[in-house]
Amino acid sequence: MSVHSSIHDLAQHVGQTVTVHAWLQDKSGKGKIQFLKLRDGSGFVQATVFKTDVSEEVFEQAKRLTQEQAVTVTGEVRADERAPGGVELSLRALTVISENHGEYPITPKEHGIEFLMDHRHVWLRHRRPWAIMRVRDSVQRAVVDFFHGEGFIRFDAPFFTPNAAEGTTELFEIDLFGEDKAYLSQTGQLHAEAGAFAFGKVYTFGPTFRAEKSKTRRHLLEFWMIEPEVVPSNHTENMALQERFVSFLVRRVLDECQEELKILGRDQSKLAGAAEGNYPRVTYTDALDIIRQHIEDRDLPANVQEDVQPVEWGDDLGAPHETILGHHFDRPVIIERYPAAIKAFYMQPDPQDPRVALCDDMIAPEGYGEIIGGSERIHDYDLLKSRIEHEGLPLDAFEWYLDLRKTGSMPHAGFGMGLERVIAWITGIDHIREAIPFPRMLTRMRP
Ligand code: 4AD
Ligand code: MG
Repeated sequence: MSVHSSIHDLAQHVGQTVTVHAWLQDKSGKGKIQFLKLRDGSGFVQATVFKTDVSEEVFEQAKRLTQEQAVTVTGEVRADERAPGGVELSLRALTVISENHGEYPITPKEHGIEFLMDHRHVWLRHRRPWAIMRVRDSVQRAVVDFFHGEGFIRFDAPFFTPNAAEGTTELFEIDLFGEDKAYLSQTGQLHAEAGAFAFGKVYTFGPTFRAEKSKTRRHLLEFWMIEPEVVPSNHTENMALQERFVSFLVRRVLDECQEELKILGRDQSKLAGAAEGNYPRVTYTDALDIIRQHIEDRDLPANVQEDVQPVEWGDDLGAPHETILGHHFDRPVIIERYPAAIKAFYMQPDPQDPRVALCDDMIAPEGYGEIIGGSERIHDYDLLKSRIEHEGLPLDAFEWYLDLRKTGSMPHAGFGMGLERVIAWITGIDHIREAIPFPRMLTRMRP
């Protein structure tokens, strides 16, 4: 009798005979021996087939297996230090579950990224996406654990919204039967604020849509955002929460995902500072000096063009500037107090200097750019109303949002973290498209 096991759990069965349902990734061998590389979703293992150990029929069957064929194998678990997961299988029996139709497209040779993305539905079976998606799962669970541990409740914002909150040019418009319009949500923040006035501490965690026509390695049309909102709170507490949150996520991945990070070849020493905390805080104004100094000294990270220009006060930071800032520090850096004019209408102006807002962006190291944007919110009814009018936003759509300031208003704050940006950074991959199962981009809607 043999027990059933997942590949992940094989190490608990050393010396025993087990049965595994799996797929064949690849095979090699000749003469009297075959090596079958197997996967079952939980992990990867090699099964060795010795001609002398099995019937003629099983040996021939093993030789005929094709890539990704579904099989049930029974074999003895042997400890092997060199093997991933520390074990190998000595195969005794083999059953083929189904015959494959045609050729499997992703052969063991090298393929270009566009080809792989066209075959994303099956590419997901391979080691690299396997590792990245498992880190994603680990981060998603850590998000829930972190906020639960801090006394937040999860609070879901709608996906159809009446409001533009982060810039009207980035909205996907929905036609409501020719009678009205709605938009796909570009942030859950405004609804999270309503939740925070009801529950104190809430966070949203859901898909977000941005009609950004940028083809960069940091932009998706559809991404997942986590948006905590706290009443009462302020800018300083908001930054401290961001630091606790991000360092918690990094520590969790380092704890839980060693096999995955090794598959990805991630240099884990680059994550040590992020796991520790103590993220530097620099004002926007001081950040401009850091950027200018790097440009003057020609001390630029490899992926920043030589002709990069300094930023004039009042202009937004571009991707190369964020890369320079990320390169200057060995851990995420918080840039705070941006000019109010380049930020969203709801941000609280700094009472010491109303030209700037009580807001911040967290910039990841190694060129990954902005992973968080957040701020203290305007809590004064009249000020908020005048900001909405000043931006030319439709007052009627924001009436409910203004209502939140009519009764029981208090200073409050929150932020949004892009899940895929954080996963791309932690896993060290160079494009955000691999950080989500099925990326949606200007150039990709399939599969
Ligand atoms: O800085 P953003 O636009 O902030 C907001 O939406 C606020 N309402 C958040 C809040 O205060 N509750 O977006 C937040 C984060 C960015 O820092 C980035 O990580 C991610 O969302 N993000 C994107 N990720 C992938 N693709 C895109 N097109 C993204 N746009 C923003
Ligand atoms: Mg932002």
